[in-house]
Amino acid sequence: GKSGYDHYMLKEIHEQPRSLRQCLSERVDELAGTVDIDDLADLNPRGVQFVACGTSYHAALYGAELFQQAGIPAQAFLASEYASSPPPIGDALVIGVTQSGETADTLSALREADRRGARTLGVTNVVGSTVARECDHVFYIRAGPEIGVAATKTFASQLAALNLLALGMAGGDDTRELIGALRDLPGQVQEVLDESGARAVAETYLESDAYFFIGRGLNFPVALEGALKMKEITYKHAEGFAAGELKHGPLALVTDQTPVFAVVTGDGEQARKTIGNVKEVEARDAPVIAVTDGQSDVERYADHVLRVPETHPRTAAVLANVQLQLVSYHTAAELGRSIDKPRNLAKSVTVE
Ligand code: F6R
Repeated sequence: GKSGYDHYMLKEIHEQPRSLRQCLSERVDELAGTVDIDDLADLNPRGVQFVACGTSYHAALYGAELFQQAGIPAQAFLASEYASSPPPIGDALVIGVTQSGETADTLSALREADRRGARTLGVTNVVGSTVARECDHVFYIRAGPEIGVAATKTFASQLAALNLLALGMAGGDDTRELIGALRDLPGQVQEVLDESGARAVAETYLESDAYFFIGRGLNFPVALEGALKMKEITYKHAEGFAAGELKHGPLALVTDQTPVFAVVTGDGEQARKTIGNVKEVEARDAPVIAVTDGQSDVERYADHVLRVPETHPRTAAVLANVQLQLVSYHTAAELGRSIDKPRNLAKSVTVE
C-alpha cells in the first residue's frame, strides 16, 4: 500500500534514501576507497554508447558525462533514434538504461548494438526482465518496486548506479571524495525531504501556464528531468534547457508569467555562467527559483531558493532533482491530477 502517503509517487520520493542505500550496499568499500562491481570492472571499454528513453535517457546523459570525465569517450542516444546513429567504435560497450527492462525502443536499440558487434550491458531495476536476460552483462539498480508511472526513485538509483559503473570501469582522480559523497547521499536526500520548501514554491506558481528549467553540465539532465516530471503529472507546459541555449531562442518565451527553475550547484565556471543566464531571465521579469547548495551567489538573483546540502558535483544532481520532484508533485497534487496514473501514459512502454 501507500503507507499513509496520498500517492505512490510521494511514497517513492520518500523511499529514495533507502533505495540509494540498497544500490550502494556492499558495492563501495570506504576504507579501501574502492568500488566493487564484480566482473564488470574488467570490461575495459574504449568507448561507451548509452541507449535509453525518457527519464532513463536523462540518466544516460548524466552517465555519458561521467565516463567522459574519466577519459572514456561516451555518448547518450535516444533509443528510438539509435538505428540511425554512428556505429560504435571498436570494442565499444553499449549500455541500455531502463528501469523496467522491457521498453521496446531500448530493447531494439540493444539488439541493434548486438548486431553491430558491440558488447551490451543492461542497467535495470527488474531482475529477470528482458533486458537483463538478453544483454551480455547486467547491473541492477536495486531501487525496489516502483508503482507510480512517473519515475522517481529509479532515476536517483540510476544516477547512483552509473557513478558506481564509471568508478569501477574508469576510476578517476577523486575516487575517495566521491565514495564519501555517495555514502553521505542517502542522509542528504533525507535532509532535503525533511525541509524542502518545494510545496510553497509549487503553490506560488500554480497558475503559470509554462515552466522552464535550466542547468549546465551534470545539471542539464536534471533540468530536462525536472521539466519531464512537470509535464507528465501536471499536464502543464514545461521545458528543460541547457542554460547556455536559452539565449539562442527559448528566451523569446520568457515573461513575468514563466517561472524559471535554475539548477546551480558549486561555485565554479559552470555556476558562474548559469548565473549569467539567470540574470538574463531576471531582466525579463521572470520569477527565478534557484535550486542551489548555496556555494555561489545565485540566490541574490532568485525570488525563491530551494536549498540542497553541499556535496560532490556529481551527487549534487541527485539532491537537486529531489527538490524538482517535490515541486512537480505538489503542483500536481494542488491541481488534483491523477498523479500515479497520468493520462495517456503507461509504466512500461512495450511498443516502438
Ligand atoms: C518518466 C518515465 C518514462 C520512462 C521511459 C523509459 O517518468 O517513467 O519516461 O523513463 O518510458 O522507461 P524504462 O526506464 O523502463 O526503460
